[in-house]
Amino acid sequence: MAKLLVPLVVLGAVSGAGVPVSPPSPRCPPRCLCPAAAPSPTLLCARTGLLAVPPSLDRGAVELRLADNFIGAVGRSDFANMSSLVHLTLSRNGLRRLAPGAFADLRALRALHLDGNRLPALSGPQLRGLASLRHLILANNQLAAIDAAAFAAFAATVEDLDLSHNNLPALPWDAVAAMGSLATLTLDHNLLERVPAGAVARLPRLARLDLTANRLRALPPVPGPPGPALAAGGNPLHCNCELLWLRRVAQAGRLETCATPAPLAGRLLGAVPEEELTCRAPAVTAAAAHPPSVTEGQPLRLGCAAVGDPPPALHWLGPDGRVVQNGSRRSVGSDGSLELRVATLRDHGGFTCVAANA
Ligand SMILES: *[C@@H]1O[C@H](CO)[C@@H](O)[C@H](O)[C@H]1NC(C)=O
Ligand SMILES: *[C@@H]1O[C@H](CO)[C@@H](O)[C@H](O)[C@H]1NC(C)=O
Repeated sequence: MAKLLVPLVVLGAVSGAGVPVSPPSPRCPPRCLCPAAAPSPTLLCARTGLLAVPPSLDRGAVELRLADNFIGAVGRSDFANMSSLVHLTLSRNGLRRLAPGAFADLRALRALHLDGNRLPALSGPQLRGLASLRHLILANNQLAAIDAAAFAAFAATVEDLDLSHNNLPALPWDAVAAMGSLATLTLDHNLLERVPAGAVARLPRLARLDLTANRLRALPPVPGPPGPALAAGGNPLHCNCELLWLRRVAQAGRLETCATPAPLAGRLLGAVPEEELTCRAPAVTAAAAHPPSVTEGQPLRLGCAAVGDPPPALHWLGPDGRVVQNGSRRSVGSDGSLELRVATLRDHGGFTCVAANA
């Protein structure tokens, strides 16, 4: 009881009027505080040494705080029937396992704090049912993969998504691009290597985008002005003409620096004159046929290599002057080569390698 008395005094002092607190009851789990004066059922169980979610939770609770405990796993029925819950905090628990459907009944939940845990990945069903979710805080976990379906339940409602300080090499960008209410997207301190063109362009409400300290070499234009406040420092940016747009977005405290090309290495992007952010038109450096001559019915491989900044994309024009499509008879390799599986008389004529970049 001595432990309970201390928080009692603190609560009284805060309100200045002595808040009555219900004694431990079937509706208030042992060691938790359930202030009776709260307008709606509130369960305060933070920092109470819990090893698991207490089974005797008031299923009508509106707020449940379980932060700073030792809850390593959340099961399918731990939060069952808690359809009035609006705020759930599970921060800093060492949480590793989240059963599929663990939050399936939390239809009213608006804020879910799962930061400071050890979640290794998010699968499709783990966040199922969270149809009202506005704030999802997953910072400081060990996330290395997120399934494209993981965010489906709250794609229309989520406003604040924090995935910072994880190990994410990629994101399900199509799922993110579907978040029509998203205002804050926090992705700093991950391992992201690319942001696809247009991924954030479709987010009408986006106000803040933090991509600090990832592995991005390039960044597609984000819409604006005004556009979202963007932070992308601490990335190994390749500063060429494709980053002119970022150089032109005037924002105080811009911290983006260039990693390449060599003459710009280490310089603040904002301090590089626009005319030094250059690209180089493509040049075909080699094109050859293997074997050099072929008889009807034999395979033929046409190789092509090109340089440019950014690296050019390669394609082929056939003897008819049309772009060669990848198919069963003619296959286009990712290295820019063209393979004719079976050369026929129809292939007679010139093939042209075309290199194109920004
Ligand atoms: C949830 O509600 C169902 C149906 O009322 C009941 O059978 C089940 O025991 C409840 N589960 C919990 C954990 O309260
Ligand atoms: C072309 O198709 C083959 C399979 O037929 C595939 O392996 C290859 O990746 C494709 N190339 C491109 C550039 O899509």
